[in-house]
Parts: sequence; structure tokens; C-alpha cells
Amino acid sequence: MDASLELRGIVAGYGQGDILRGLDLDVPAGQITCLIGPNGAGKSTVLRVISGLLEPRAGHVRLAGEDVTGWSPQRMLERGVAHVPQERSLFPSMSVWDNMLMGAYIIDDRAAVVRRATEIADRWPIVARRRNDLAGSLSGGEQKTVEIARAMMLDPPVICFDEPSVGLEPRARKNIFGILAELSSDGRTILLVEQNARSGLAIAHTGAVLDAGIARLVAPASELLESPEVGRLYLGAP
Ligand SMILES: Nc1ncnc2c1ncn2[C@@H]1O[C@H](COP(=O)(O)OP(=O)(O)O)[C@@H](O)[C@H]1O
Ligand SMILES: [Mg+2]
Repeated sequence: MDASLELRGIVAGYGQGDILRGLDLDVPAGQITCLIGPNGAGKSTVLRVISGLLEPRAGHVRLAGEDVTGWSPQRMLERGVAHVPQERSLFPSMSVWDNMLMGAYIIDDRAAVVRRATEIADRWPIVARRRNDLAGSLSGGEQKTVEIARAMMLDPPVICFDEPSVGLEPRARKNIFGILAELSSDGRTILLVEQNARSGLAIAHTGAVLDAGIARLVAPASELLESPEVGRLYLGAP
């Protein structure tokens, strides 16, 4: 499937004000696109518009060329677009395994769901090792890994990650970026929002800078990393 995303002229916000003000953004199929920008710029808002959590006031979202603007979160999930939110989203008092099964709540065939969870556990050692532990007892990095594994339950061609490395120690952060690179090499389309802009751009094909409600700058990630001006304005000290 050609799982590209196209955002055209997106206007969106909360209450009165517009946060996104005519945003155009292309997320090419099979690539990692990293969206950076200052705190409060509207990066999470972009992901909410894509995953159906927030309906835009104007503009269009297209998935593989099909207009999916205003589709519900469930319909977007069914269509293959997963969203791993910034905040912790596991059910802390449920086991890792039960959290995994929740990732496929829209599928009625429970035997198929268990088969899929077993496949994922074969690929992700943390799921197999900690399957009976309460999710809340895992470290931050382990929880994020299980969140990502849970999102894999529906085998989504498109995944939106909202600051997956935030608050993690360096080793766990490195591990998460490794997982993203691996999912990308499966051929999935990834839109990554990152505070750790340098690390995000380092694994991305394309970088985009969100500023004042539009994608102000879109370029190969390596170009953004090398630009002294982008570094000074958006990346902080190396
Ligand atoms: N649920 C909400 N209600 C009202 N304002 C919100 C809500 N969520 C975010 N905002 C505001 O929208 C702006 C953009 O937020 P967000 O998309 O979360 O930015 P970023 O992810 O780039 O830090 C911020 O000013 C934030 O305060
Ligand atoms: Mg955010």
C-alpha cells in the first residue's frame, strides 16, 4: 500500500484561536518524516488532526490519495493509521499482555488477536519477558516500548509518534530511536514529532519545522541538521 499522508491548508485549534493556520505537509510513504518546532507550536495538534482526534476547521487530510478529513479515530485506526501519544497510555493496573490485547480492541476475532500478540512477543523480547507484570511496574522506557508494540497489534502501515523519547534516560532513548528505525525498515510510513530534534532528524529522511501554524521549512533531514541557521533557531546547542 502506498501509505503517504498529505495535509493541505489545515486550519485547526481549540476554542477560539487557530493553532494551525493553513498547514501543508507531505509525509511520503515508507519514510520517516520528523516534525520539529518550539513547545506549543502545534506539533501534537498536527498528529491529533491526522488521527481523527481533532477535526480541522478547514483543509484536507489525504491518506494514499483518499480524502480522510474528519474521519473518526476508530475509522483511521481501521484504515491503518496508528497514533502513539506523548503521555503514558498503558493501563497501569493491567498486565503487559492485556494491554497488548487492548491494542486490537476493534477486532472481534479474539483468537486472531492472541495470535498477533504472540507474533509480536516473538519479535519484542520485552513483551514476552514482562507479559504477566503490571504495566505500571515497568520503567518509562519499557512502557514506551510496550506502547509501541501495542500499536503494532493492528500492523499499521502509518504510525504517528508524539515525542516518544521524552523523559527517558539516554540508553532508553537510543533504544526507542532504534525501534523507530526498525519499523521504518519494514516499509512503514512514520511521522515523528520530537523535542530531541537532533536525534529525531538523525533517523529521519525528511525534516519539517512547524512555526506559527505552518510548515515553515521542509528539507532533507541531513540538510536541516547541517544548517547553522536551523541549528541556532530550532535545534539548540549540539
Ligand atoms: N485541549 C486543548 N485545549 C486548549 N488549548 C490546547 C489544547 N491542547 C493544546 N492546546 C494549545 O494549543 C497550542 C499547541 O499545542 P500542541 O499542539 O500541544 O503543541 P506542541 O505539541 O507543539 O507543544 C498550545 O498553545 C497549547 O496550549
Ligand atoms: Mg506536543
